[in-house]
Amino acid sequence: MEDYIALAKKLRVDALEDLKKVADEKELESFYVTYLAKKGSIPGLMVHMREVQDKSAFGQEVNATRNEVSAAYEEKKADFGAKALEKKLEAERIDITLPGSPLGVGHINPYRLIIDEVTDIFLEMGYEVCEGRDVETDRFNFELLNVPKDHPSRDMQDTFYFGDDYLLRTQTSAAQAHKMSEMEEKRPIRMIAPGKAYRRDDDDMTHSHQFAQIEGLVVDKGISIAHLKATLELFAKKMFGQKREIRLRSSYFPFTEPSVEVDVSCFNCGGKGCPMCKGTGWIEILGAGMVNPRVLEACGYDPEIYSGFAFGVGVERVAMLRYHITDIRRFYQNDFRFLKSFPAK
Ligand code: PHE
Repeated sequence: MEDYIALAKKLRVDALEDLKKVADEKELESFYVTYLAKKGSIPGLMVHMREVQDKSAFGQEVNATRNEVSAAYEEKKADFGAKALEKKLEAERIDITLPGSPLGVGHINPYRLIIDEVTDIFLEMGYEVCEGRDVETDRFNFELLNVPKDHPSRDMQDTFYFGDDYLLRTQTSAAQAHKMSEMEEKRPIRMIAPGKAYRRDDDDMTHSHQFAQIEGLVVDKGISIAHLKATLELFAKKMFGQKREIRLRSSYFPFTEPSVEVDVSCFNCGGKGCPMCKGTGWIEILGAGMVNPRVLEACGYDPEIYSGFAFGVGVERVAMLRYHITDIRRFYQNDFRFLKSFPAK
């Protein structure tokens, strides 16, 4: 009679030997089919059970063979699995040291850079910031500022109307009228009001139907034109350099009396004369004046007690000079190539 126990032992040795030669998952699968699957040779040993005498010893041997071979098989399978995972991870590896794709972050418009710079200078001097509003009434934009209906100076500031009374403000000076008339107690004021203004100008290199201004207003007892001059001189030096000087030229605005245009000595040539200052050595940067007593009165301040000064800076104009921009329309075209060429802050 055949020695089935020896047969089982041999099968165990053969199987483990074969398993060693298995090189990939596919071969492992056929190994499983050959030895361990239902119809494989190890479970197949059981057909001999009928013939063996020592059934228990044979059964134990077959079990031990199955257990040992399937443990070795599972180990190999796990090993292949880990290797496959490793390979996959390696293949799909993400190099986190590569620079990411750039996000389309916006950029601060140069006229906003100028507003921020001017605002900082006046905040340091103790001014507060009041923005006012873009849509105004005729009363705040004109009448309280001593420009009655049919006043000829309205022609210079034609704008966009909504009906008879509402309009896009032509000047940030409207914020002066708001501030003064809305002070419940008529106390001193030191404020700036940066913001947009609108005029029905024909757009060209130096004019745009939309532009920005920074209004300034100081109201207190005993304010004189000396305060105005000293303030603007300090501003000019901080903004354009310590060597700058200012000069006042007489001018006209309905809401200031006297009124002046303020020039700063050219920061390009230092005052010798160059194309930027058109050979004059001076560059006009703002309009200003002493608050007209009629304006103080209309806004509820007693001109016998209070006096004040006001000024208005053209923001794009300063930005154009500062950054050598030749066409004002560039500010509003949202061309990223243009915007990116200014400091980021
Ligand atoms: N509002 C004037 C303008 O737009 C500028 C200005 C402001 C002048 C304040 C005097 C005082 O031209």
